[in-house]
Amino acid sequence: EKGNYRHFMQKEIFEQPTVVAQTLSSYIRQVDQTVALPQFDFDLSTINRVTIVACGTSYYAGMVAKYWFEQFARLPVDIDFASEFRYREPVLEPGGLALFISQSGETADTLAALRHCKQHGQTIAVVVNVPTSSMAREADLLLPTHAGPEIGVASTKAFTCQLAVLAALAAHMAVARGRMTRAEEAEVVVHLLQAPASLNAALAHDADIAAMAHLIAPARDVLYLGRGPDYPLALEGALKLKEISYIHAEGYASGEMKHGPIALIDEAVPVIVLAPSGPLFEKTVSNMQEVRARGGKIVLVSDRAGLDEAGEGCLATIEMPRVHPLIAPLVYAVPVQLIAYHVACVKGTDVDQPRNLAKSVTVE
Ligand code: F6R
Repeated sequence: EKGNYRHFMQKEIFEQPTVVAQTLSSYIRQVDQTVALPQFDFDLSTINRVTIVACGTSYYAGMVAKYWFEQFARLPVDIDFASEFRYREPVLEPGGLALFISQSGETADTLAALRHCKQHGQTIAVVVNVPTSSMAREADLLLPTHAGPEIGVASTKAFTCQLAVLAALAAHMAVARGRMTRAEEAEVVVHLLQAPASLNAALAHDADIAAMAHLIAPARDVLYLGRGPDYPLALEGALKLKEISYIHAEGYASGEMKHGPIALIDEAVPVIVLAPSGPLFEKTVSNMQEVRARGGKIVLVSDRAGLDEAGEGCLATIEMPRVHPLIAPLVYAVPVQLIAYHVACVKGTDVDQPRNLAKSVTVE
């Protein structure tokens, strides 16, 4: 039931602090501040490579995870859309962990890729929200998200729960490989446990986002920019907007703008910049100035420090809590989802059942 919410999507966006906390609680041992995984019977320290395969929003969660596996565990990561992965000839060598991410656990291309990897001797890990799904049954390492049933066709809470599990997995593998000390692991745990409160703080800006949605709704095209682990969030923002508001949108890595997409910029194209303050902020701000110099209208999503520094002259600003870079992708998922949601509401589209889309894609 939707309770006091207008749409399932809205309800599921607001459930995120609770379901992320629920998910984290099954991966974190509070007593000693360590990451604990469910039971499995292979040696994690022998894994020398990770291949991530997924579709849609789950794929973007995988893109974020690639940064974490590289940064924490120093593991080489290959990532692809399931529909592409299957039809190339991926090199799958001994010691490889193939990681599949799926809300439904039934997406046909992802399931077929899983079976292909199994036949080629890969250890199979699955991050899945439906514990009784086909993918869950075929996993060597089953990593459930505890998001609860997701009814809205556009994925929201499953995504942030996937990120929570993937961050925990990356830290655990880093420890297993001797790349992370127990003290560093405890720090990761502290940051992760901060996520639910930060998600709540992000949700507190719902009304600001609703109030600016009419600025985006008339646009024919919208661009999203992000850098580092926030680049996949730009892709996710564009996907959400396309899906439920039917506005054409693209996500770009901020630094790629000047290599072509900047030709699209004029006063009619809002550019939504996802830029938590931190080591990458200055670079993104200079990319933002390039857009502004060409008449582009910017919506800056950042924390107080970022908005104070670069918010002037923007079409709109959306304030996020100041967070550790590890949890920024979870927290910045909230404005990305709420922008799409409120723009769709302004346009009057069917938010929970967008045209041409199904909740689970069981055809290849
Ligand atoms: C986007 C969306 C889809 C799914 C994709 C994969 O909002 O819902 O892009 O993310 O179809 O589905 P799962 O995660 O069930 O494999």
